[in-house]
Amino acid sequence: MMLRIESLTKAFGSGANKLHVLKGVDMTIEEGEMVALMGPSGSGKSTLLNIIGGLLAADAGSIALDDRTYGLKGPASVVDVRRNQVGWIFQDFHLIDGLSAIDNVAFALEVAGVSSKEAEQRAIEALERVGLGDRMQFVPEQLSGGQQQRVAIARAIAGERRLLLADEPTGNLDIASAAEVLDLFKSLCADESKSMSILMVTHDPDLASKADRMLLLRDGQTVASDIRSAWGLDEGGEEE
Ligand SMILES: Nc1ncnc2c1ncn2[C@@H]1O[C@H](COP(=O)(O)OP(=O)(O)O)[C@@H](O)[C@H]1O
Ligand SMILES: [Mg+2]
Repeated sequence: MMLRIESLTKAFGSGANKLHVLKGVDMTIEEGEMVALMGPSGSGKSTLLNIIGGLLAADAGSIALDDRTYGLKGPASVVDVRRNQVGWIFQDFHLIDGLSAIDNVAFALEVAGVSSKEAEQRAIEALERVGLGDRMQFVPEQLSGGQQQRVAIARAIAGERRLLLADEPTGNLDIASAAEVLDLFKSLCADESKSMSILMVTHDPDLASKADRMLLLRDGQTVASDIRSAWGLDEGGEEE
């Protein structure tokens, strides 16, 4: 078991305005597993990822990621989780405009304390793994959206992080590029030499159904979902 979350709760605000977003989330992710997290807009998907990623403290409950347990303390006490254990992928890529693909990846490693020489070597390996070995000197604006997201994925995996958190990673991509990102995720999870797992938020049931497992965040709790109930999510006109 790579990740185990138990009875996790989180509310925002206070008094009459208190908003209970997570009301006892229980979930696990196995090594090598790719899990899709779905749920209506505002249901707490990003909040859950932020807590797992060490960007936000929960109110109660616990998280165990490999041997590390955390969840209730503020971001300052989980620096190690952010630096070493968890990698992030966002909808809008978060690349630095003026830096080439290789420098975007290497820069993130240097910030985490890796020497320049080693950072460059690891960046080359990561970009080759995501199929961008021939685009390393390109800056973001010279790359398609799908290629930019692959640079971001290279950045996220270059630190040998075990768990990738992807918050709507295909939200800005066309259908073909989105499918490519999902295929890349699958191959990363299948690579036993790295033993990674991915937790991905998506609104697209077709993409979610490519994951090993779908979870639905509803009424503050996660429940197992299948493709049919995932499509049912759209019926209320929930849109983001
Ligand atoms: N920092 C915050 N302060 C107050 N309310 C917040 C904060 N972050 C999120 N929320 C609220 O918590 C709910 C869940 O938000 P979020 O996790 O972003 O949902 P999702 O990612 O599923 O769309 C929303 O109602 C949102 O407005
Ligand atoms: Mg969100």
